[in-house]
Amino acid sequence: MNWLLTPIPTAIPSPEEWLSEREQSVWKQFRFEKRRTEWLAGRWAAKKLLSRAFEGGQNNLEILAAPDGAPEVFTFGEKAPYSLSLSHRNGYVLAAVNQEGHPIGCDLEVIETRSSAFIEEFFTTEEQQQIRSSKEADKLAIVLWSAKESVLKVMRTGLRVSTNHIRIFLEETPETAIQWSFEAEHIGTGQRFSGWWRISGALVITFAMAGSGAKGKF
Ligand SMILES: CC(C)(COP(=O)(O)OP(=O)(O)OC[C@H]1O[C@@H](n2cnc3c(N)ncnc32)[C@H](O)[C@@H]1OP(=O)(O)O)[C@@H](O)C(=O)NCCC(=O)NCCS
Repeated sequence: MNWLLTPIPTAIPSPEEWLSEREQSVWKQFRFEKRRTEWLAGRWAAKKLLSRAFEGGQNNLEILAAPDGAPEVFTFGEKAPYSLSLSHRNGYVLAAVNQEGHPIGCDLEVIETRSSAFIEEFFTTEEQQQIRSSKEADKLAIVLWSAKESVLKVMRTGLRVSTNHIRIFLEETPETAIQWSFEAEHIGTGQRFSGWWRISGALVITFAMAGSGAKGKF
């Protein structure tokens, strides 16, 4: 898996020069500047990453959303076996590409205090207890939240599945580490996931894949 975390570039070439016609028609539909900029920056970062693996030229690469919202990669107009995940936050964009095609998810968050109501609504009872007794409660809550979002992107459901149906097991917590692995489980189906998290300044980044023990793949 390859990934790229970058501030949203201020000097992206004119979209007409590097977006396909299908991508341009999506780009033109955004009404809000922030959304249009983030969407564009995601495509820019993803194409940069993809062109390390794809030798057919950036103009033959397209990134289009599936009906569920997940980004999919097309080469020469055909769906290609790359798995891509994107996240934007606070002027940054995170892109992750898996050339082996196994679904991946990534997420980018800012460390900030989440309210008690938020913690009660979106975390399992065990996670709530962990957060309340942690000396790094804000960081822990964000790492757990981000890990859940990464898993929900692997599942391609996003928040259509409740975050408290995803149980996260951190192998180390932000009290003792700034990066480590996690395991996750979808309560109900028992489906397992694994991932990796990292704190970088005020940002938390996470990646997830289906299956247990994917540690070495990140
Ligand atoms: C996936 C989701 C959790 C991400 O939300 P977020 O944390 O606010 O945003 P992030 O910046 O981290 O991620 C956004 C990216 O997630 C990706 N994404 C969107 N839906 C996705 C899905 N179902 N599966 C995987 N990835 C998805 C997209 O690449 C999107 O960026 P882009 O539209 O610019 O390409 C959220 O969009 C969601 O729950 N979507 C599904 C439900 C839905 O459609 N809601 C519509 C509003 S109610």
